[in-house]
Amino acid sequence: MTDIVVARIMDDLNALAEFGTSPAGGVDRTTYSDSYRAAVEWLSARCRDAGMRVREDAAGNLIARLGPEGQPAVVTGSHIDTVPGGGIYDGALGVLAGVECARLLAGRAKSLPLGFEVIAFADEEGAYISLSGSRAMTGSLTAGEVETARGRDGAPLHEAMRGYGLDPMRIVDAERSNAEIAAYVELHIEQGPVLEAAGRDIGIVTDIVDLHASEVLFRGEANHAGTTPLHLRKDAMRAAAATITECFAFIERDFPPDARLTYGDIAISPGASNVVPGDERLAQEIRAIRKEDIERAYEMAGATAERLAAAREVEVTSNVRSFNTPVAMSDHVTATIEDVCNDLGIEPVRMPSGAGHDAQIMAARWNCGMIFVPSRGGISHNSAEETGVAEIETGARVLFRALDGLLHQTAT
Ligand code: HGY
Ligand code: MN
Ligand code: MN
Repeated sequence: MTDIVVARIMDDLNALAEFGTSPAGGVDRTTYSDSYRAAVEWLSARCRDAGMRVREDAAGNLIARLGPEGQPAVVTGSHIDTVPGGGIYDGALGVLAGVECARLLAGRAKSLPLGFEVIAFADEEGAYISLSGSRAMTGSLTAGEVETARGRDGAPLHEAMRGYGLDPMRIVDAERSNAEIAAYVELHIEQGPVLEAAGRDIGIVTDIVDLHASEVLFRGEANHAGTTPLHLRKDAMRAAAATITECFAFIERDFPPDARLTYGDIAISPGASNVVPGDERLAQEIRAIRKEDIERAYEMAGATAERLAAAREVEVTSNVRSFNTPVAMSDHVTATIEDVCNDLGIEPVRMPSGAGHDAQIMAARWNCGMIFVPSRGGISHNSAEETGVAEIETGARVLFRALDGLLHQTAT
């Protein structure tokens, strides 16, 4: 059987890493930015070289295809946007391993019973709206959401989309019918320590956790830091700090160990050492396997913020930015991946994913599965993110065989 040439995947990972290199280390490649556009042009050329036809949909998802039109497609892919200062494997591996699979399939494209597609989904990392490319494809993103969303930097999404050449009012055109996709399989780095600790090369994802992102705004009063006694301040920072401490305490005390709470970004206004903070904006993220735990944690965090802010004469408001519910992967796709592992003599770990992925959105409409490969030291969302070449080769091999199996099984 023709096989994966891992050197081509490594070369592509390194070439893609050149788009959006951050002076502070790592890669900054926000969806719809100039570096994102340049990366998409590069990727399109790589897909064409692999014999694929390339198009972009109304959300800016890049869709590359081989094989017959008018037939459902077996689909793979992931994302090529990054978090600020991100690594070179998160998302990129799934897309570039998909392109390598296309190279292997191209020679028999004419005889493929189904289409084969590689998709690079827009804004998986949620610089504007988390997982919005796959949400648009499944028809769960509204023009209203697109109209009001703002980026991490406060810039409106609709402006970024227009700058990228998209019409935000046409986002609904990105939706695809059930018949267009037969199955979706995503290869991704684990982004956690489980596989490395177990000494295994492959994880098969059973479920993907819920992810709830919100913004909490504390509104006090800016004042002179020298003349205003502590008890007379309306100090937004003090209210926020008390809230953060108490929320971490209840998450650890009252929730299952899979629950996560993160305050990953903070903006203080006016922002000077000699001014009592007037406004403070916190990015709050809650994750858990059970949706009920997320909802309860969000309510408790809100009540805590209100109580602690009121005690300091600070007002607090909270806006949900995104809420993606937990999902199970398809038994059929998961069993296909497991069979491939058996054939290759690989013992996989069945595991839930603590990170969000496009597969969790696609699963609302299509049969999905995910393959994980280990992350050195469990590190991700960090420029030090790394996966060994041998493990990438194994992961891509499993991906290719699973896709090839689905291409032929699903057709019968
Ligand atoms: O944040 C996440 O879970 C994913 O890496 N976007
Ligand atoms: Mn990520
Ligand atoms: Mn990712």
